[in-house]
Amino acid sequence: MKLLVTGGAGFIGSNFIRFMLETYSDVWIVNLDKLTYAGNLDNLRDLETHPHYTFVRGDICDRATVEKLMSAGPDAVVNLAAETHVDRSIEDARSFIETNVLGTHCLLEAARANKVTRFIQVSTDEVYGSLSETGFFTEETPLRPNSPYAASKASADLLVKAYVHTFAFPGIITRCSNNFGPYQFPEKFLPLMINNARQGKTLPIYGDGLYIRDWLFARDHCRALDCVLRQGRAGEVYNIGGNNEWRNIDIAKRILRLLRQPESLLTFVKDRPGHDRRYAIDASKSFRELGWKPETRFEEGLGVTIRWYLENDAWLDKVTSGEYRNYYERMYSNR
Ligand code: NAD
Ligand code: TYD
Repeated sequence: MKLLVTGGAGFIGSNFIRFMLETYSDVWIVNLDKLTYAGNLDNLRDLETHPHYTFVRGDICDRATVEKLMSAGPDAVVNLAAETHVDRSIEDARSFIETNVLGTHCLLEAARANKVTRFIQVSTDEVYGSLSETGFFTEETPLRPNSPYAASKASADLLVKAYVHTFAFPGIITRCSNNFGPYQFPEKFLPLMINNARQGKTLPIYGDGLYIRDWLFARDHCRALDCVLRQGRAGEVYNIGGNNEWRNIDIAKRILRLLRQPESLLTFVKDRPGHDRRYAIDASKSFRELGWKPETRFEEGLGVTIRWYLENDAWLDKVTSGEYRNYYERMYSNR
């Protein structure tokens, strides 16, 4: 199977490429990535010379590059390229609209022109909006995105759906809950908490800390994407989730305990504007139709993740220098 993966130098993309190349000997991957602040070739250093792997630096908004790669005739496209951080989208949404909406449109057009037979749009549960204490998002839940990030992802989903409807385009949308695992950029909650805790720095908890997310180990998400590639039905949406809800404050406390740091490091800071209270996914369609289910227990995945960050402190130090320092200063100095 020849795959065009976009955004493969990011967190989930690099986990996905590694999973596919480790699992199959008959998969060839071209990775198209712009290498934004979140894209990092160190994430795939061990695979750089793999005979089935090719890296192309480029933008999914660049029609000529995208056209060239699509005309090579991939069996499937997996679109993971995106701007992904909610807080950054609140600061400035422009790049989110460009990459997540216009970039997806560019990929759809080229895929359609070149008669690509499978297109996986990797989306998020955030397109559904927020839940109160009860209930779950199903694939039929109306889209009610609240952040600029979520709105840009919902827009891309609607474009894919429109292409499916209008052109019988073989698009499939996956909507996954919060991922965690190795190689996640430390602007996101879990690695930010680990990074600060390992240095004895304060852990910034937004608002009352009682916000709830459903957490899935990234490798389980990658296995789900593989199932969708092989068994997913064109035109369908598949929710992917861990059935694993946690309050932010409880995860932060757990990380402090595991790293033998005091709870006094917890610092309640100004809340994120428009902060979604709770996400929870009903992934029963994926269980039923794809035969997929999460395999990694939360405690196990968290242990693996913390160990990975501790053993890869050079990676962490590198990505948290430069741009990240300015970002952190901007984001947290006045909270
Ligand atoms: P990430 O921010 O770690 O990586 C994104 C990658 O996309 C980076 O390598 C970046 O360089 C690349 N990229 C950005 N703009 C690009 C462009 N214009 N052209 C080419 N490449 C570009 O993101 P992630 O957490 O790995 O998320 C991957 C996908 O999964 C996203 O679509 C995201 O919406 C979705 N998703 C993420 C989560 C999560 O918890 N991380 C959950 C559900 C869905
Ligand atoms: P995040 O990793 O940004 O993912 P998302 O907002 O897309 O779910 O945040 C996860 C949760 O953690 C969310 O409720 C916001 C919260 N959070 C904090 O409390 N402190 C932080 O420093 C960050 C980055 C997030």
